[in-house]
Amino acid sequence: MNRNSCARLGVALLLLLSITAQARLPAAAIASAHPLATEAGFEVLDQGGNAFDAAVAVSAALAVVEPHGSGMGGGGFWLLHQADGGRNIMLDGREAAPGAASRDMYLDNRGQVVRDWAINGPSAAGIPGQPAALAHLASRYGRLPLATSLAPAIRLAKQGFPVEEHYRRLALMRRDVLNRSPEARRIFLSNGEVPAAGQLIVQPELAALLEALAEDGHDGFYRGELAQKLVDGVVDNGGLWSLEDLAGYKVVEREPVTGTFRGAKIISAAPPSSGGVVLIQALNILERFNDGQPDPALLPHLAIESMRRAYRDRALHLGDPDFVDMPIEQLLDKDYATGLAADIKLDRATPSSSLGKPVTVEQGNHTSHFSIIDQDGNRVAATLSINLPFGSGFVVPGTGLLLNNEMDDFSANPGAPNAYGLIGGEANAIAPGKRPLSSMTPTFIEWDGKVAILGTPGGSRIISMVMLSALEALDGKPAKDWVSRPRFHHQYQPDMVQAEPDFVGTEAGKSLLVRGHQMESTGRRYGNMQAVFWDGRTGKLEAVADPRGIGSGITRPINR
Ligand code: GLY
Repeated sequence: MNRNSCARLGVALLLLLSITAQARLPAAAIASAHPLATEAGFEVLDQGGNAFDAAVAVSAALAVVEPHGSGMGGGGFWLLHQADGGRNIMLDGREAAPGAASRDMYLDNRGQVVRDWAINGPSAAGIPGQPAALAHLASRYGRLPLATSLAPAIRLAKQGFPVEEHYRRLALMRRDVLNRSPEARRIFLSNGEVPAAGQLIVQPELAALLEALAEDGHDGFYRGELAQKLVDGVVDNGGLWSLEDLAGYKVVEREPVTGTFRGAKIISAAPPSSGGVVLIQALNILERFNDGQPDPALLPHLAIESMRRAYRDRALHLGDPDFVDMPIEQLLDKDYATGLAADIKLDRATPSSSLGKPVTVEQGNHTSHFSIIDQDGNRVAATLSINLPFGSGFVVPGTGLLLNNEMDDFSANPGAPNAYGLIGGEANAIAPGKRPLSSMTPTFIEWDGKVAILGTPGGSRIISMVMLSALEALDGKPAKDWVSRPRFHHQYQPDMVQAEPDFVGTEAGKSLLVRGHQMESTGRRYGNMQAVFWDGRTGKLEAVADPRGIGSGITRPINR
């Protein structure tokens, strides 16, 4: 090799080294709904874990310190990005209907849905997916043993965590139901009342359950002694679980749904979540107007009309992909969006009434989201749930496991609304082993060397929150603006804009009223978005928690 070639090789090597150095982030970032869960994630990163190990730690810690939002008795969707190879994967750890479930199980003899059966007690609980998802995440994607990543949660369950105002508000909402379950009453209330701020919630039985999972992995939860206790406790109290249901539960790896908006790539949750499909469809419709950047005075109206149409298709088409055929390709198609956009009037709301009867809506604030990026660029956006605050309100005796009420995300009576006022169709009817349709929308957005990792709780409003924040991100606003902006929502039925109080009186709010939209204030602010932003070109890294909650977003270099 002559001197010139040597010099050229040297320059090429230097360039390669500098690109590799740039690819490594200056710090890791975690945003979660509880400071103790964010810390649990960093504890595991400090021990040599990657973003996936940290996701196990954060999920398990949230299950302990945010029992109203998610839990080991629930499920969720973990959207993963492997830096090495650039692969995106969605882990579907959604709850499944028990084998004895049936289409009409929540109807009385007049064919009416009995809300109490569908949302309270063990009759409302699907087979949990979170324990299986965490075991899978650790063994397939993590660097550390499951036991290491579960250790912070086990410690928190044993030592207890202090009650804060958010806990108190949600416990008050579900106090009567928690009081029906002696174990839930003992663990989460204080003599049947909402505990005082600062009181410690200690969960030794949940610690033992996490230890069983740490020791034996998936089977520690789904087979053997714990599984028998779970089935006995559920069946003795009117539920339908069997040992076969638990032994048969499987995490499913699915392709996330993808789309583009204003040149950015959107990667989001696939069915059985409706989140990604509705998000991308709504953005596709909005993009028909000045390439997705309409006059700001028109934006709220066009966003609402886009949501209205995308949520309508949700009700018509979406369900568990292992049970129903769905026209996903069509729903995500840009030409299809052009057709849907065609009847949007710029000066007038389109009534949903021609498409179905309006229904009343009742909303809870529950579920949980966290976002992580490690210094290698691995990412996780995870939205987890036990459905309504404190799920079904039922703790299985002797296990510390608070059960979900995710069965209410099915259409108990196709065409009738669920707890979010969401209408579902035949595609989301109950069937044994089927997974209920979700709105959870863990999402990555990639554009110009930047990446946003985001998601939020908030029932049916999750998707519209992610949509509004995506618009902020693509407008170049800082991540704190994505999570704090005033929110508004439309879900096709009821035909009503639901808006945060601080949006209603604004110029944007008035721009909706003059176009004939009905608007109601949600009374209080909603959602609890957790977001991470990484700009690979400038090196800017942000982790932010929604000011509506008590969460924390932290960036910190990991010294190893
Ligand atoms: N349980 C709320 C959802 O999955 O959308």
